Amino acid sequence: MTLQHEPVDDSILDEQLEYYRARAPQYDDWFQRRGRFDRGDEATAVWQHEIDLVRSWLATLELAGRDVLELAAGTGIWTAELLAQGASVTAIDAAPEMLDRLRRRVGARPITTIEADLFAWRPPRQFDAVVSCFFMSHVPDQRFDGFLDLLSSTVRSGGRVFLLDSSRNELSTAIDHTLPSDRDQTMRRRLDDGRSFRIVKRFRSDEELAAACARHGLVVDVRRSPNFFQVVTGTRA
Ligand SMILES: C[S@@+](CC[C@H](N)C(=O)[O-])C[C@H]1O[C@@H](n2cnc3c(N)ncnc32)[C@H](O)[C@@H]1O
Repeated sequence: MTLQHEPVDDSILDEQLEYYRARAPQYDDWFQRRGRFDRGDEATAVWQHEIDLVRSWLATLELAGRDVLELAAGTGIWTAELLAQGASVTAIDAAPEMLDRLRRRVGARPITTIEADLFAWRPPRQFDAVVSCFFMSHVPDQRFDGFLDLLSSTVRSGGRVFLLDSSRNELSTAIDHTLPSDRDQTMRRRLDDGRSFRIVKRFRSDEELAAACARHGLVVDVRRSPNFFQVVTGTRA
């Protein structure tokens, strides 16, 4: 059974984007487990091992030569991985500061970037696959069907879907963050300079995600790495 979560006002989406724009220069510290995200050598080794596992799950989609849309691409951590796996990538994000870093990360490799708000953007065409990493948990309940509708309408029939996000694990976040309770879908995030922002963080069970995807014509498997990650792989029917 799915718990009812406290409703949130859409205005939080503006604060969330403001947070990511300001966080862009320090964003990779989270992925690299540096600074306030360093939870010790053992946790970092486990994190890196599980990231390798997630990369291997992404590789099962066989995206080489495919036309892939990446939603909320950020600084391009997964864009670079998609390019390394041979995909042709169109990367969208609403934060110009993120897209600047993404372009620097991919360097001379060909890529299309689009600066757009995913809660308003409509795809100009369909793609062979849609990938979105660490964004779905930032989509509040009242927007989640809309997000899956966008995702589903963007991938061609028979095309692939890959969604990655965090499992609930205190070691995943910064030392000075507290994860939301089971009934809450927001949390407060801090930057290194002490500024703080309220954002959406909505953990969804594997069953809830699979059912939501099915409502939008997506046939998916939902699985977890042992500690840190939740991964949805599937196909548009
Ligand atoms: C947790 S980061 C994930 C970035 C990247 N996918 C990764 O895995 O590292 C969330 C991303 O969502 C972007 N974002 C936030 N609100 C957005 C919106 N309304 N439309 C598009 N992107 C948005 C942020 O700028 C940020 O890059």
